[in-house]
Amino acid sequence: MDLKGKTAVITGGASGIGLATAIQFSKAGAKIVLGDIEDGPLEHQVKEMRSHGATVIGVHCDVAQESDVEALRDVALKEFGVVHLIFNNAGVAGGSTIGTPKKIWDWVMSVNLDGVVNGMNAFIPLFLEQNEGHVVNTASEAGLVGVAGMGPYNASKFAVVGISESLFHELANTGKNVHVSVLCPNFVRTRIFESERNMPKELASYAENPENEEIKKIAAALVNAGIDAADVAKAVEDAVVNEKFWILTHEHSAIRITELRLEWMRGGPSPMAGLVNINN
Ligand SMILES: NC(=O)c1ccc[n+]([C@@H]2O[C@H](COP(=O)([O-])OP(=O)(O)OC[C@H]3O[C@@H](n4cnc5c(N)ncnc54)[C@H](O)[C@@H]3O)[C@@H](O)[C@H]2O)c1
Repeated sequence: MDLKGKTAVITGGASGIGLATAIQFSKAGAKIVLGDIEDGPLEHQVKEMRSHGATVIGVHCDVAQESDVEALRDVALKEFGVVHLIFNNAGVAGGSTIGTPKKIWDWVMSVNLDGVVNGMNAFIPLFLEQNEGHVVNTASEAGLVGVAGMGPYNASKFAVVGISESLFHELANTGKNVHVSVLCPNFVRTRIFESERNMPKELASYAENPENEEIKKIAAALVNAGIDAADVAKAVEDAVVNEKFWILTHEHSAIRITELRLEWMRGGPSPMAGLVNINN
């Protein structure tokens, strides 16, 4: 897909990978619709992008709410007449596998998995009808390997990889000009380790737990040692333009962890737990 003149809708677009991709797509000539749950940053980033010449609007959207995502699509259509790309990117992290309250699991799954499902349901029928479109789903390397301390996040990201593969095959069967990519980065310098800023208020006491503070510090150090979100954005653009399914921003580690899992299945040792342990 040539992005010039196309319309791209990006969820979680007010920060990190979503914002960097919006800027990258805009530079390639696309019109942008940013959806995000955080109104202040959303408004700020829309103004900032416009001051650099971007054609962009911002729409308040909680991706966990089907009606919000449908409204996001409808506003995009009203403003630009047609939509060509949905980047289901909004995501949050939180909780280890042992001892995490079910409500936290539900919150992570509602954003990371339901958000992607809502995005696919809202936009794919449109793309099939117009015989043009691209879906990018954000998973993670945590969708390729299980990691200690990340149960809910792992569950949601494995699910996103699985449904993206399923969608790839279903789209191929339609023979239509509609494509899907799945983004699986290792660490990227963003605000993901501050995800609880978007936690429903009734769960706030969990975020204040001192044990979580320690985990957060470790996560922050890892994320801050990650790659620049602008590099991820370039990889997303390349996948859309060249119709690539896998977006492996840290190709060496993504492939190595997958090989290590295969060796584990064949009776070898388990892959060492951290995504961090494999240098890119
Ligand atoms: N940063 C990393 O190391 C990394 C690695 C792999 C995958 N990812 C994934 O990348 C995606 C983007 O995260 P990021 O790293 O840019 O983090 P980020 O926190 O900087 O950006 C996430 C954005 O999503 C928004 N958001 C959160 N909940 C939402 C909701 N319910 N509805 C709509 N918007 C919501 C936030 O307000 C924020 O603008 C996520 O899916 C994340 O899991 C990140």
